[in-house]
Amino acid sequence: MPDARPVVAVTRSLPTEVEQVLARDFAVRLNEDDHPWSAEELEHGLRTADGLLCTVTDQITAERLAVQPLRTGILANFGVGFNHIDIEAAAVLGIAVTNTPGVLTDATAELTIALMLMVARRAGQGERIVRAGKWQGWGPTDLLGRTTIGRTLGIIGMGRIGRAVARMASRGLGMSVIYFNPSPVPAAEAIGAEPRDSVEAVLAESDFVSLHCPSTPATHHLIDADRLAAMQPGAYLINTARGDVVDESALINALENGHLGGAALDVYEAEPEVPQRLRQLENVVLLPHMGSATVETRVAMGLKAAANLAAFFRGEPLPDPVVAPGVSAPLRPGADRTRR
Ligand code: DGY
Repeated sequence: MPDARPVVAVTRSLPTEVEQVLARDFAVRLNEDDHPWSAEELEHGLRTADGLLCTVTDQITAERLAVQPLRTGILANFGVGFNHIDIEAAAVLGIAVTNTPGVLTDATAELTIALMLMVARRAGQGERIVRAGKWQGWGPTDLLGRTTIGRTLGIIGMGRIGRAVARMASRGLGMSVIYFNPSPVPAAEAIGAEPRDSVEAVLAESDFVSLHCPSTPATHHLIDADRLAAMQPGAYLINTARGDVVDESALINALENGHLGGAALDVYEAEPEVPQRLRQLENVVLLPHMGSATVETRVAMGLKAAANLAAFFRGEPLPDPVVAPGVSAPLRPGADRTRR
């Protein structure tokens, strides 16, 4: 008997538990070898599947969405950030877009704290020495870093992840937290984070600056050469948001000329490319976009994407709409998209 269930194409391998749920509920096409899809594969998916479960590695541009015939009615994104999807084009075509907010907040905040500690305490540098068999033994002046305890953390973008970082940093490390967000964040007061009225004001006061805003046209190169120069000498920059929020070349200059104490990055402008000049620096920690990479979180993200697909095909309200089905404008325009 032909399978009457909706066809769902999944662009990357997902945790087994998630793939089992998808196989139970849909006529699912899995990506067995987990290769990132090419433009042709994406277009084939859009032409032949009712729903696409996609990830940050899929560039779903207006050009891709212009395929004919277009069969896909929903793009269920596995992730909270959706800057890789042209949501205006999706909205015009009436394609629903969903994401997975909430379930990756703590994991991403936890990795942010890990990055901050690693760069301040030169942990990556120390590990490289041990792994290379170059450690000569303990020394009183070896690998001296900086403490985070009691220092000032500046947060740019006080959405869910920014607030979780603020909570962990103030409660766990006794840090003073200040932040800039384009709209007021009453929930930040409860965790003792103090607002500032501009990005510059945060940069001027912070020993550590952590970025938690989404990638939008307004935040492209938000941290540019001028703003890097406005950071305190010796300060550290942490980025677990999106690579293009920082002008990477300007950041490399600020690290090479010694203005910044260091940088800890989980995201890059042209992933998976990481510039050679950045990789050569000792005062940087470089991770491969793994903010949400815990078993618990990736399962929760997958189940959320599956729940969005199920609601769509049942004609029910979407749990996590970015673009609702059939509407001609994104549900979360401008200001709201700065609050992840
Ligand atoms: C997210 O959820 O945005 C992660 O960066 C993976 O896309």
